[in-house]
Amino acid sequence: MEYNDKLIAAREAVRYIKEGMVIGIGSGSTVNEFLYCLADRIKEEGLQIVGISASKKSERLARKLKIPLTTFASYQNVDISIDGTDEIDEQLHLVKGGGGSLVREKMIDLVADTFIVIASGEKKVRKLGTFPVPVEVVPFGWQATEQRLQQLGCHTKLRLLNGEIFVSDNQNYIIDCEFKKIDDAVTLHASLKQIVGVIETGIFTHMVDKAIIADNGQIYVMKN
Ligand code: 5RP
Repeated sequence: MEYNDKLIAAREAVRYIKEGMVIGIGSGSTVNEFLYCLADRIKEEGLQIVGISASKKSERLARKLKIPLTTFASYQNVDISIDGTDEIDEQLHLVKGGGGSLVREKMIDLVADTFIVIASGEKKVRKLGTFPVPVEVVPFGWQATEQRLQQLGCHTKLRLLNGEIFVSDNQNYIIDCEFKKIDDAVTLHASLKQIVGVIETGIFTHMVDKAIIADNGQIYVMKN
């Protein structure tokens, strides 16, 4: 039997949403499932919430589903943030940014009282690094920034979309850095961040409060 594990994780996460909450909304296909579940609760129960969206894509979907949105201008922290991931290890460290929204996602997830990651089972790894670490960089001089990233021992690829350079919602570029295996995510993130031209990395450490993983229809909750 085929399970829609992204939907199963999303459905579980939406149970954590309470009346009056300000919700951080990440991005990606798992978060899209969450938005559909949230829209159902708003319609069926008249639940009152507002969301702050981490990407233009999830903002568009939220608007389509009539989920009320707000911005950091009104709220500088959120009650709960729900976001997806590309990898999650046993310490609940993440590699994120496959969709290119890592900066805004990190900004929102960081200011959440509770940060919940939702994912399907294949995102669980023993060690981070199989998924290349997305690094958002300033477009100016990106070639020099790329060289300095390579000096940390990774293979790099400037992200493209339909043959053109991918441009993030913040008008920056993304360089995907393949390390294959990351032994110390905290130190690697710090080293990457020291490079001038690097805005942020897709390594999220010590941020997750709870991970809801659905694997072949079974829900596993991992807590910090
Ligand atoms: C976007 C992200 C996403 O959360 C991550 O890529 C997971 O996406 P999906 O839910 O589609 O598998 O970090 O920048």
